[in-house]
Amino acid sequence: MRLKNRVAILTAAAGAGIGRATARTFAREGASVVITDAHEARSIKTAEEIKREFAVEAIGIKCDVLNLEEIRQAVKETMELFGRIDILFNNAGTNRPSRIVDMTDESWDVVMGVSLRSVFYFTREVLPIMMKQQYGRIISITSVAGFKGLAAGHAHYAAAKAGVMAFTRCLAMEAAPYRITANTIAPSFIYNEFIPTLYPEEEIRRMLEEIPYPRKGVPQDVANAALFLASDEGEYITGQTICVTGGSWMR
Ligand SMILES: NC(=O)c1ccc[n+]([C@@H]2O[C@H](COP(=O)([O-])OP(=O)(O)OC[C@H]3O[C@@H](n4cnc5c(N)ncnc54)[C@H](O)[C@@H]3O)[C@@H](O)[C@H]2O)c1
Repeated sequence: MRLKNRVAILTAAAGAGIGRATARTFAREGASVVITDAHEARSIKTAEEIKREFAVEAIGIKCDVLNLEEIRQAVKETMELFGRIDILFNNAGTNRPSRIVDMTDESWDVVMGVSLRSVFYFTREVLPIMMKQQYGRIISITSVAGFKGLAAGHAHYAAAKAGVMAFTRCLAMEAAPYRITANTIAPSFIYNEFIPTLYPEEEIRRMLEEIPYPRKGVPQDVANAALFLASDEGEYITGQTICVTGGSWMR
């Protein structure tokens, strides 16, 4: 058990993708997990499933990362229940594809708010707790789009994800003296059951063809990297980005 006695809080962790897979992986390794997500019923259900399956403490809390009050409440409840926070997993991210000339202020603000500002908000709440503990792991999900952009229609998303990496490098320097590390994971295309409802078949095929490794990337691939960064083995790694792409980064 690589995370025994650790307490982890995760954002957007009740879907079918990376957040939930990471929560389950942390729980499998003995951590108590706080599942936060904008969808309340799914947060509670995910936490209940985890509790049953891995015999760890797990709670589900509704938390829309656009809402600072809900973030503060989630952190408060976590502290009341567990008294510490060892791991913050910033998973929330969203995209509203639109070419720049058609992009509305609203879609810019939502993409930035969910994908970048939430990382700042959650970190600002949790960092003082970790500083007092002299221990913490902050792991945020970015995207290879943050390095190299994406096809037309994703400028706000790519800018937000680049921002997550820059924010994390600065955070890593501020936090290091307190034995707190901060890193990001940059996936490329990671398949989950909702992907066919989000993208046309043709685009899915194109994204899969870009991956040199001969299978789809799945949420567990990202969860495995997160576990490494959260565990004792990751102690001396900070301010870094691990790309989980099956090699598509080289394309
Ligand atoms: N899936 C991919 O191909 C891929 C590739 C690169 C990066 N990413 C990034 O990985 C992260 C996870 O994506 P995923 O596709 O694995 O989905 P996921 O299942 O991990 O996340 C979906 C969940 O996010 C929740 N959510 C949406 N808006 C929210 C909000 N405002 N507040 C709180 N929760 C909210 C939803 O309720 C849903 O349960 C995102 O940051 C995404 O940008 C995904």
